Amino acid sequence: MNRFITLTAIPLLFLSCTKEGIDMDDVVVPKGYSLSAGTSTIFMNSSKAYDNPADWVSGSYETRFYRGDRLYDDARTSSNNYGGGLGPVYAGYSCGSCHRSAGRTKPGVWTENGVDENGNPTYGSGQYGFSAMLIYITRKNGVFFQDYGRVVHDQAIYGVEPEGKVKVDWHYQSFTFPDGEPYELCYPQFTITDWYKKMWDGVKGDSVEIKPEELFCTVRIPLRHVGMGQMMALDPAEIEALAAKSNYPEYGISGRCNYITERGVRSVGLSGNKAQHLDLTVELGFSSDMGATNSRYPEEICEGQLQMSQGSMMGLSYDQLDVSTEDMEDVDLYMQSLGVPARRNVNDPTVIRGEQMFYQAKCHLCHVTTLHTKVGGSVLLNGTRLPWLGNQTIHPYSDFLLHDMGSEIMGVGLNDNFVSGLARGNEWRTTPLWGVGLQEKVNAHTYFLHDGRARNFTEAIMWHGGEGEASKNLFKNMNKTDRNALIAFLQSL
Ligand code: HEC
Ligand code: HEC
Repeated sequence: MNRFITLTAIPLLFLSCTKEGIDMDDVVVPKGYSLSAGTSTIFMNSSKAYDNPADWVSGSYETRFYRGDRLYDDARTSSNNYGGGLGPVYAGYSCGSCHRSAGRTKPGVWTENGVDENGNPTYGSGQYGFSAMLIYITRKNGVFFQDYGRVVHDQAIYGVEPEGKVKVDWHYQSFTFPDGEPYELCYPQFTITDWYKKMWDGVKGDSVEIKPEELFCTVRIPLRHVGMGQMMALDPAEIEALAAKSNYPEYGISGRCNYITERGVRSVGLSGNKAQHLDLTVELGFSSDMGATNSRYPEEICEGQLQMSQGSMMGLSYDQLDVSTEDMEDVDLYMQSLGVPARRNVNDPTVIRGEQMFYQAKCHLCHVTTLHTKVGGSVLLNGTRLPWLGNQTIHPYSDFLLHDMGSEIMGVGLNDNFVSGLARGNEWRTTPLWGVGLQEKVNAHTYFLHDGRARNFTEAIMWHGGEGEASKNLFKNMNKTDRNALIAFLQSL
């Protein structure tokens, strides 16, 4: 805890090192036009900016890219002969249903006050007909529910019931910046209703209800797919070296790696909000999110549910795998070959000022500007290598490390009490900020943070607590012009 004692020293430090406006430490500031992702950088700023191949994608790779793109985006259905292309229960009907245009689909339950135009609570039935979120559930003691598994599937194919519906209530509080400008923060609280009913001889029986006092639940909105290939081509040794170096007691910052063991190999976790995965979770996404069985996850996700027999009665067979490893590798190839949009408006004086403010507020100590990919690039899940991703200087604006973000704000803060690998409830992976400025154009919303509680950049920054507290306060104490400049810089990423 003594890391916070140093907070009072910051204004002084700030004055002494920033005579010329900026304390650069030893960082390399990317110059305006330095390419965000080396040869994978593309110059595009439309609503499809996240969803185009890098320039090096050609020949058979191009064919596979577009095949993977379709497998990723096409709505899966239950109507193939094997009865299992989707569901019986599912959380999304394609990868793209949650990651629309390789971005972050706006959650269907996201009306700002949790009620629809008629004042009724909004369940998982918004614009896209489903929540577009992942709702992780466990018992209070961390054990999974036998009937439900790890995620609530709030959708189901015809004749089968969704496992439950998600409902959100918002809590609001008003604040003011020291310069008098008001701002507001809010956070969502989730309840699950309409738990599915057991089937007895084709007749619905009791609801398999989980009482609120027994239920632990934590919710994630999807992540953008900017720079997935570069993330997979990172050199774990560079990330570990960063963890060893990431210790700035004067700002209360100390990042650490998540380590995950999969198939007997222990490596640095990189993907997911808690760096809880080693790869791009293609097999898990097909299985857990869509109910599409595959060689890695051959069991139906609702295995324990009595309503499975209902599916059998309808002639569905569950004993064939729904998606092949070759197909899944094309999806992996698609994601890793996506181009990373170049920065925009880099010569705008406000953006230049904002970049200085980004360093001044120490954002770069976690949102690390420059990293490198390893020689040889990345290897896809079925063994195909993408050498083009190798040996590149990249600007992801993340250290891919875990940070404690959790001091209390509105009595909650960024702590979900959910452990993932080594990551504790209050620890989160620094979200890469490349492409963040295009989220509004791509997905028509500006909800940020793991559960989408921030409605804009200002709120996202003002939720930073724990190791992010000092940085947040540096932003908070800026004048309005500088805060706006910093946000203009984020919009240029
Ligand atoms: C129901 C919505 C939903 C569906 C369907 C879905 N995802 Fe996701 N995806 C998410 C959410 C939410 C996260 C964040 C999870 C977390 O951090 O716990 C995520 C995270 C990811 C990540 C990690 C990104 C990063 O920056 O670390 C990848 C990669 C990914 N999904 C790929 C896929 C693929 C491939 C599919 C289809 C096979 C898929 N997703 C289907 C919601 C979804
Ligand atoms: C101590 C490390 C740390 C510092 C310092 C830090 N951040 Fe973050 N930032 C994070 C983490 C971790 C998250 C993810 C939190 C979550 O999703 O709950 C995050 C999330 C964000 C997001 C939301 C991204 C998204 O797509 O959801 C933005 C925007 C952001 N930070 C901007 C900033 C800015 C601007 C600063 C400087 C004022 C800053 N951060 C300082 C660690 C840090």
